[in-house]
Amino acid sequence: MKARMGVVLAIGCVGIGTILWQVGSASGDSGVVPSAVAIATSMPVLGGDGPTYVGSSKCKMCHIKQNKSWKKGKKAKALESLKPGHADDIKTKHGLDPGKDYTTDESCLACHTTGYGQAGGFAIPDPSDKKAVKRAKKLAGVGCESCHGPGSEYIKLHKEILKSKRKYKVEEMYAAGMFKIEESTCVTCHNDKNPTFEGFDFAAMKEQGAHDHFELKQREN
Ligand code: HEC
Ligand code: HEC
Ligand code: HEC
Ligand code: HEC
Repeated sequence: MKARMGVVLAIGCVGIGTILWQVGSASGDSGVVPSAVAIATSMPVLGGDGPTYVGSSKCKMCHIKQNKSWKKGKKAKALESLKPGHADDIKTKHGLDPGKDYTTDESCLACHTTGYGQAGGFAIPDPSDKKAVKRAKKLAGVGCESCHGPGSEYIKLHKEILKSKRKYKVEEMYAAGMFKIEESTCVTCHNDKNPTFEGFDFAAMKEQGAHDHFELKQREN
């Protein structure tokens, strides 16, 4: 396995906070858990070349069952909720305008799309740019990478594991940039910056908010 030196990528986040994303050495379990802290609305990327967002469709071919289950859930349609005529009661209850189209309101997109404002993540497309429109579709809603982390690097590892049929340890995944899913993964969005927030209980919501789970056959630990 290729040695990965400790890379620290800091994404500046104007006026709001900072995401500090850390990848440790690939050997052993030393500090390979990335931590995503603080978030909220607009998050311009100020530099660095760490993993980038690739979109949920890139995961689908190998994780068909998880994809199918996710598609049925609310997260896949989170951008739709920002359109007029969707969730009118909830909007009214929380002082939002049910007649307004919020799909281009930047203050909503960080939590209703995948990787908004980050490298490879969702960006509001120019309607005349077909490629950008297509790309935006793939990153609409709360996709796989919203919880599992930007996939450009770990996807290579998954491909290699699939091909070689070898066993792997989950730490390898984290070292390649996959997030370890903890409460902090969710509260980047499930917090009081969400205008409809009514609290968040990680233990109670963990199973319900993602997708059905299926056995991992090649994982060792
Ligand atoms: C990128 C932001 C984001 C992250 C990260 C996120 N969520 Fe959500 N979550 C949302 C949004 C937005 C909705 C509402 C979707 C809609 O209906 O428009 C939602 C809805 C939910 C719901 C209720 C609807 C449903 O699908 O049953 C649950 C439960 C939930 N999330 C749990 C979690 C858990 C657990 C995590 C962490 C493992 C998590 N979420 C991570 C943004 C996020
Ligand atoms: C900090 C993250 C965050 C921001 C910013 C945010 N939301 Fe959400 N939104 C969520 C989460 C998480 C949920 C899931 C339910 C919950 O916990 O309230 C949600 C749920 C909703 C729902 C209910 C969807 C349903 O069908 O149940 C609507 C409507 C909504 N948001 C609209 C908006 C609008 C409009 C904006 C911008 C003005 C916005 N949100 C900004 C995180 C956010
Ligand atoms: C709301 C967060 C969330 C989203 C969105 C999400 N996942 Fe997951 N995923 C989880 C959680 C939680 C687990 C359980 C493992 C854990 O606790 O680390 C998991 C586990 C998995 C596993 C391991 C096997 C299994 O079924 O448990 C695969 C593979 C996976 N997810 C793929 C995907 C793919 C592909 C998508 C997009 C179609 C996706 N996930 C979207 C939260 C999420
Ligand atoms: C070329 C196929 C392929 C692609 C594409 C792919 N994966 Fe995987 N992934 C795998 C294989 C193989 C495993 C190991 C499965 C097993 O042990 O049965 C895996 C494991 C996982 C796990 C479980 C890790 C663990 O041990 O807890 C998650 C989560 C996951 N993938 C998410 C994703 C996400 C998100 C994407 C898209 C960004 C993606 N994968 C793209 C093949 C792929």
